[in-house]
Amino acid sequence: MNQTAQKLDTAYDPERAQAFADRIAQLINDGAVAVMISLGHRAGLFEALASLPPSDSHTIARRAGLAERYVREWLAALVTGGIVDYDPATRRYALPGEHGACLTRDAPLGNLAVYAQHVALMGQVQDHILERFRSGDGTRYEDYPCFHHMMAEDSGQTVVAQLFEQILPLVPGLRERLERGIAVLDAGCGRGEALIALARHFPESRFTGYDLCSDAIEDAARAARDAGLDNLSFGVRDLTDFDEQARYDLVTSFDAVHDQKAPADLIRRLHRSLRSQGTYLMQDIGGSAQLENNLDFPMAAFLYAISCVHCTPVSLGQGGEGLGTMWGWETAEAMLMDAGFDRVTRHVLPHDPMNVWFVSHKG
Ligand SMILES: C[S@@+](CC[C@H](N)C(=O)[O-])C[C@H]1O[C@@H](n2cnc3c(N)ncnc32)[C@H](O)[C@@H]1O
Repeated sequence: MNQTAQKLDTAYDPERAQAFADRIAQLINDGAVAVMISLGHRAGLFEALASLPPSDSHTIARRAGLAERYVREWLAALVTGGIVDYDPATRRYALPGEHGACLTRDAPLGNLAVYAQHVALMGQVQDHILERFRSGDGTRYEDYPCFHHMMAEDSGQTVVAQLFEQILPLVPGLRERLERGIAVLDAGCGRGEALIALARHFPESRFTGYDLCSDAIEDAARAARDAGLDNLSFGVRDLTDFDEQARYDLVTSFDAVHDQKAPADLIRRLHRSLRSQGTYLMQDIGGSAQLENNLDFPMAAFLYAISCVHCTPVSLGQGGEGLGTMWGWETAEAMLMDAGFDRVTRHVLPHDPMNVWFVSHKG
């Protein structure tokens, strides 16, 4: 036996090592299933399965408008992954109702397949990120295919779907102010779906959405035009040097501060853009700034992984601080206080355990 093998032999408990190896194998298997869930979501396969009685692969492929040979292989991955049921006697596949409840569009538990897309994206950008590990450079939003589409689906669930029932009530009296007519800014609006929903609901108020990315803003502006809204405008704007003074009564940002170049500076600028008695409503990731506090935080490893491949590098790519996804609610709260807000309250909503919602008032 050579020296290294000898050292290893005495350095670990073989039973625990085998149990850990089994866990890693399971993890790799589950990772592959996550990518298949992403693919199935994008291909509309879960909706096809949910709309059919137990069916063969030809029927499922036809319903989804896809090539049967690919669909059959996908089904096999999902059957062995424990997602889809299979009856070998009839060669029919079925998505149990309980599984459809978190894997289909408008699913009652929220569609978790939306988040599986992030796992697929991580694989897609791995080569870019590996280069950045070596060079220390950052990335640009354009380096992430479909990012804004995925984000719009994500915030469609955590923000838009709960806007009127859960989110607006966080700010007492806000609904009435919006009904009377106020000026609203959404900073880092992406495809602007939250703002479009608000503009439709509150015709007396005026809404502005700014984002760095022209492709997201083009989609937002098109959707606003299609909806025939004239109380809403979108603009491409790098908020790093944002300098509008006392123009808005409400500023919102949905998951759009932690990956900025300079989050503390942006929050100060947003504070300045509010009129007195104005409100800043900020949703951002709710983990702690301390790694050790996040061991039980919902989907913490997933969030750190997104941070590693996206949120940290896009901030670094703007010459920024790269605070990362898990910048921490403590950091956010301190920045809000330092910016001059005189009342800051923190909320966690039951439908959105990964995020924290801050309501901050300007005196
Ligand atoms: C995680 S996405 C959230 C998008 C949107 N609020 C939503 O909920 O779907 C963060 C957004 O911040 C925007 N952003 C990042 N840096 C920016 C900057 N310097 N100026 C303006 N927008 C920026 C990105 O383009 C992106 O759309």
